[in-house]
Amino acid sequence: MSGKITFTMIKPDAVADGHIGAILRKISEAGFKIKALKLTQLTVADAKKFYEVHAERPFYGELVDFMSSGPIVAAVLEKDNAVEDFRTVIGATNPAEAAEGTIRKMFARSIGENAVHGSDSDENALIEAQFHFSGREIF
Ligand code: CMP
Repeated sequence: MSGKITFTMIKPDAVADGHIGAILRKISEAGFKIKALKLTQLTVADAKKFYEVHAERPFYGELVDFMSSGPIVAAVLEKDNAVEDFRTVIGATNPAEAAEGTIRKMFARSIGENAVHGSDSDENALIEAQFHFSGREIF
């Protein structure tokens, strides 16, 4: 799978704002195939573990609280050059700096509540996919 998959979450802000369908449509139109998909909610412990690389950042507590505050959609996506191409589709972390037409520009509320997650490397895509899905849930 390496090199061809990325992992995404539609974050609690975008789920609460009713954007699941529109975001999945943009993902599909951008050429990504859905390999795994579920509506779920992170516990505080899950969010702390998922974002532990950011533990020393000043926004870590806020990030953990937000990501565990409501349901998310987790998905594994497949495409050539998946990690890099998906980061182009979602746009900059801060929606104010995101390009027109990107998911964050269209649907994010703020830098903290920024609608979607995208893996930052092939290695992390695999780790993140396995954090959320068992082998039998990835098709
Ligand atoms: P993401 O790239 O998915 O993973 C790390 C998250 O930390 C990032 O999205 C933002 O949601 C969040 N984040 C990054 N910078 C800030 C910030 N300055 N303030 C609040 N949250 C942030």
